[in-house]
Amino acid sequence: MKQTLLAVFGGRSTEHEISCKSVVNIVTNIDPDRYDVLLCGITKEGEWLLADSLSSIEDSSWYQSKVHAALLPDGKLQSLLVTDQDGKMSLRKVDVIFPALHGKNGEDGTIQGLFEMSRIPYVGCGVLASAISMDKLYTKIIAQAPLRAIGVRQAAYVSIVGRQIENMEENIERIESHFSYPVFVKPSNAGSSCGITKARSREELIAGIKAAYAVDRKVLVEEMIVGREVECAVFRDPEGNVKASGVGEILAAADFYDYDAKYNCPTNETDVDPQMDDKDRQLIRKAAMTVFQAVDGWSLARVDFFLTKDGPVFNEINTQPGFTAISMYPMLWEHQGVSKKKLIQALIDTAFTRHEEI
Ligand SMILES: Nc1ncnc2c1ncn2[C@@H]1O[C@H](COP(=O)(O)OP(=O)(O)OP(=O)(O)O)[C@@H](O)[C@H]1O
Ligand SMILES: [Mg+2]
Repeated sequence: MKQTLLAVFGGRSTEHEISCKSVVNIVTNIDPDRYDVLLCGITKEGEWLLADSLSSIEDSSWYQSKVHAALLPDGKLQSLLVTDQDGKMSLRKVDVIFPALHGKNGEDGTIQGLFEMSRIPYVGCGVLASAISMDKLYTKIIAQAPLRAIGVRQAAYVSIVGRQIENMEENIERIESHFSYPVFVKPSNAGSSCGITKARSREELIAGIKAAYAVDRKVLVEEMIVGREVECAVFRDPEGNVKASGVGEILAAADFYDYDAKYNCPTNETDVDPQMDDKDRQLIRKAAMTVFQAVDGWSLARVDFFLTKDGPVFNEINTQPGFTAISMYPMLWEHQGVSKKKLIQALIDTAFTRHEEI
């Protein structure tokens, strides 16, 4: 008998549009003989709507859907409450959830909490791993010791948390005593390079801190790392074994990989098999798995590094990596001979094994 898979996409994050592309790529590769797929889109305002087809996502007509959906927290019903345009309500039992969400509310443990309550198996990391990985400051705190143990470092940083923002003089003093310009300023919780700036002077630093603080009450100021931007895909198979793909490279055309460069710049290129020392490649793969395990990862994550002349420097982990046709995560696995169809089925399988383990 076919199972019902709920694909959730869109969301209130800055990566809403990427998510709409990811879900199309994911659902296109789901076995239709095994799963009936429900497409539940979250608008930027936070409305939950049922989309009737992938094409309605591609042409954006799903925003006009009159069918509302709500995932119930009731762990016995394990259902989606569907309200049609006449106000008639019905329950649709859901067997497994595949979130194709990125960023705020979708990748930070928020919606994972609702999935936990619903007791429906879901693909991806749980609440804790999602929350830690979305928060750059806590990722650094958690990853520090395990990375050091294998000889990999991360960018040095100074944090400004909450009311510390009021003491700008002291903040500047702390930063300037640690680093020389330029430095990178980022909100701890954001994604898609939002609120991130490269500050080349004290004036730019102050402006950058204010801009980052507008996005999150925790701000990080990091030393600038000069290196190539490389990424590794991690997968935890249904048996619980953690695996790393090869290492890919982002060849950003811009000064740094900001939002525009990420999503609007056609000259960006990705390379799933760039030239590098095998020693570096193996260390990056090992470090990617180390970080994934340190945050208590499940199913999947993409782990990003800078590759400097002195070896890799860890940058960040993404627990709901982009899954579009040109995204690194599925491309890295394809390069290893794992087709998208196979990868997606394996990811769905991880949802069930986690559910059993808990
Ligand atoms: N310490 C650093 N040194 C040099 N470049 C940096 C540094 N931190 C960030 N960058 C540049 O800024 C880009 C965005 O930073 P980062 O990856 O930390 O955040 P993000 O991309 O917003 O997060 P996410 O990938 O979750 O969307 C990086 O890809 C890189 O080009
Ligand atoms: Mg990044």
